[in-house]
Amino acid sequence: MKIFITGVSSGIGRELTKKLVGQGHEVWGIARRIELLEKLKQEVGGKLKVSECDLLDKSDMAATVKKLRDENFIPDIIILNAGDHIEDTKAGLDLYAFEKTFDLNVTGAMFWVSEFLPNFFTRKSGSIIAISSTSAYRPGLKSVAYPASKAALSMAFRGLRLKYPNKGINFNTVHFGPIRTRLWAGSKSFLIRPAGEAADFIISVFQKKSGTFFFPFLSTFLFRLSLLLPDRLFTFSTGFLKKDQD
Ligand SMILES: NC(=O)c1ccc[n+]([C@@H]2O[C@H](COP(=O)([O-])OP(=O)(O)OC[C@H]3O[C@@H](n4cnc5c(N)ncnc54)[C@H](OP(=O)(O)O)[C@@H]3O)[C@@H](O)[C@H]2O)c1
Repeated sequence: MKIFITGVSSGIGRELTKKLVGQGHEVWGIARRIELLEKLKQEVGGKLKVSECDLLDKSDMAATVKKLRDENFIPDIIILNAGDHIEDTKAGLDLYAFEKTFDLNVTGAMFWVSEFLPNFFTRKSGSIIAISSTSAYRPGLKSVAYPASKAALSMAFRGLRLKYPNKGINFNTVHFGPIRTRLWAGSKSFLIRPAGEAADFIISVFQKKSGTFFFPFLSTFLFRLSLLLPDRLFTFSTGFLKKDQD
């Protein structure tokens, strides 16, 4: 299968790319840090193509789409994995950081949906997986935009599932709880799972019908139970998971 992934230079996207290329899929991955992309390519070889692309720059995304189309790389599966957590509440509200987070986590994902949906409609098949977060359901202290942007992404995918139920296309949303990557500088608790397990979970979603999914099981199950608690009490009681963060 042809698989397109955003954010393959580190963390979950990197592990996912290694596994999918190892399974013999043709993967095209993008990110900004070209040296890490080249390193990944050297490491996995095989059917991996990489492009340097900044998801905050629409002209860069358009140029990348052209490269894919020129090489007739119309993906069967798209994994919208790139995302970032940019602090916006250090002093008041930093609107620049807020906008950047939304541009990356929402528009930087929906761009690819808009671009390839016509191909998926024609083919009557295809699968798009949005990587969201349990943060879509809870505010955090360092960024008001991150949870809001993940909620927006999850809701946009709910909308796509509602609007296009019979087109042969799967619109899936994966909500991750804590995964040990650059984005989670938390404690060593067993509740925080390695990126390789998160990658395996994304691959397991390939077989599933349109829907919304949660991983790791235990932390996201407890998280969903805790939704009855007020935000302040939840944030206080889960502080131990973040004890290494500044
Ligand atoms: N780790 C967790 O606990 C956790 C929990 C819930 C959800 N998630 C979600 O999982 C996804 C993967 O995150 P991760 O934990 O694996 O973190 P990560 O290691 O920081 O990976 C993020 C990826 O996104 C890419 N990216 C960031 N900004 C970009 C930009 N402007 N243009 C293109 N690519 C960009 C990064 O590449 P470059 O910097 O090279 O561009 C990197 O490859 C994210 O959507 C995140 O929100 C993670």
